[in-house]
Amino acid sequence: MVTAPDASRVFQEDLLKEQVAFVTGGGTGIGKEIARTLGRHGARLAIASRKRESLELAARELESEGLECFVDTCDVREPEEVERVVAGILAHYGRLDVLVNNAAGNFPASVRNISYNGFKSIVGIDLIGTYNVTKAVFEARLKDHGGKVVNISAPFSGMGVALQAHVAAAKMGVDALTRSCAVEWAPLGIRVNGVAPGQVADTEGVARFEAATGGAATGGPIVGTKQDIANAVLFLVSDAARFVSGQVFSVDGAASIDMLKIPVEPPG
Ligand code: COA
Repeated sequence: MVTAPDASRVFQEDLLKEQVAFVTGGGTGIGKEIARTLGRHGARLAIASRKRESLELAARELESEGLECFVDTCDVREPEEVERVVAGILAHYGRLDVLVNNAAGNFPASVRNISYNGFKSIVGIDLIGTYNVTKAVFEARLKDHGGKVVNISAPFSGMGVALQAHVAAAKMGVDALTRSCAVEWAPLGIRVNGVAPGQVADTEGVARFEAATGGAATGGPIVGTKQDIANAVLFLVSDAARFVSGQVFSVDGAASIDMLKIPVEPPG
């Protein structure tokens, strides 16, 4: 795959000037990279998760790059906690334009071995959590001002995949939410899209999956970066995508449509 010399500098630097972006699960991993990328393109940031320590660490890192970052803790499964955080962001910045529902839980487990509570936990965080945050941001701000929502999905939500039934079920629900919200809210100037990341280097999710399968399930030879995912989010929340809504974009170098995964010879 051809890599741009500096994939973090593909877009105009003031693309999101004056806007405020809220990234759930923004303290670590892909969420932190999404926050950084939106911030580098002019957005003022808010990040939230359950872990204050990683949020504070991320905020210091982002602030050292000259970015503005508001932090607060919440469990996305708890609507009252979510509403409190959203009210805090609005009190701090006075506006909120972009929501990225990135907070998610994942662990590899078979349908047979996962506990009832384990299944409920992932659906609670990924699907109901996405609903809770979207609803809170909609009611507090977007319904009167418009805005953009991006829901982080999974490339296999529409397929069958071992050890991930709980995640696939939750993310398929997230995709349904993406499409339905997009349709209901198009007249209000709100765009809702999804990004389904493929195999991304240096992430906890991939590390856990590799450990559980002894490296057997790597998702193929094509590996992206957190920046690749963040750039897709940036495009979707920018005006370049002003007529794009209700779509779930796979950002995976074609891995999810490569049914048979037949090795092909490199060119030359
Ligand atoms: N394998 C199997 N079951 C697991 C599990 C694992 N690795 N981790 C958690 N569970 C089960 C628990 O056993 C529990 O079920 P039980 O009551 O029947 O025992 C249920 O899930 C809830 O566990 P809990 O510890 O209360 O977790 P939680 O609901 O607060 O959060 C996670 C669950 C997955 C988010 C948590 O394990 C976590 O923080 N993971 C790290 C973040 C992460 O997942 N990153 C990857 C992003 S792709």
